[in-house]
Amino acid sequence: MAEGTYASTLNMHYGRKGLGDRIIAALRQAGKDPDSITTDDLSPVAEFHIGGQAATLELAQSAGMGAGMRVLDIGSGLGGPARTLAQHYGCKVAGLDLTEEFCRVATMLTELCGMHERVSFMHGNALDIPFENASFDLVWTQQAGANIENKLRLYQEVNRVLAVGGRLVFQEVLRGPETPLHLPVPWAREGGLSFLQPPDAIRDLLARAGFREMIWHDVTAQYIDEYRKLAARTSDPGGPPPLGIHLILGPEAGEMRRNVVRNLEEQRIVLIQGVLKKS
Ligand SMILES: C[S@@+](CC[C@H](N)C(=O)[O-])C[C@H]1O[C@@H](n2cnc3c(N)ncnc32)[C@H](O)[C@@H]1O
Repeated sequence: MAEGTYASTLNMHYGRKGLGDRIIAALRQAGKDPDSITTDDLSPVAEFHIGGQAATLELAQSAGMGAGMRVLDIGSGLGGPARTLAQHYGCKVAGLDLTEEFCRVATMLTELCGMHERVSFMHGNALDIPFENASFDLVWTQQAGANIENKLRLYQEVNRVLAVGGRLVFQEVLRGPETPLHLPVPWAREGGLSFLQPPDAIRDLLARAGFREMIWHDVTAQYIDEYRKLAARTSDPGGPPPLGIHLILGPEAGEMRRNVVRNLEEQRIVLIQGVLKKS
């Protein structure tokens, strides 16, 4: 797919206009004052990956995060993971995302949380990261790789912006032994936005891009039960809870989540957490 077409398809998938207003209205509906919210309040909508904020914290614990670290979050979405990392570990996080509306809303939510001095967002493509060589101690990414076809280029770019000894920390949906994928899923309505590769292929690409594996952990079994419950709540006949991914994805969110459960159960996808060192 040509770069411009890819970017506009991605923006159409994730970036429905008015997202900020929908989130503010949902916060009020949930009894929260938008002028005094925390990153925890926002997590049901802003931690947009399997396992939510708990998975972010679990991954961070194994990643060796530390105060003052310079972190880049690739595919930062609404900024939930970036704010969680800054809040819990005292690091400075820059988010990069190709969906313009996400960058705009992430910035607004971060200002509302009073965290804009530690967390910022930039619109751009992970295949052409707009930062100098060796700018970061750690590159973080959660479930953005599923949308990115040229993964070797992605990992090479990540390697370039990491300082020597820096780490890539990720949670990704990868292709399981069974195919095809049940669609739609939260990262794609059609196959043209979903680029899953099996774990062995990803490990090979990471090694080719100059990474040494420190942790490789299949967490599929750990998160499947919780995701089943979440999918059931999103499809609740009484309507989903005010804050959730339906604010991003609209009425298809329930079907997308049910398909994630089926894909996990039928081994069409697996969920991997990894920590790799720039070698
Ligand atoms: C499923 S969302 C995950 C968002 C966030 N990481 C989280 O866990 O809350 C995937 C994100 O990756 C972003 N993305 C996909 N392809 C990208 C690319 N080539 N460059 C930058 N961001 C990209 C999307 O815009 C979207 O925000």
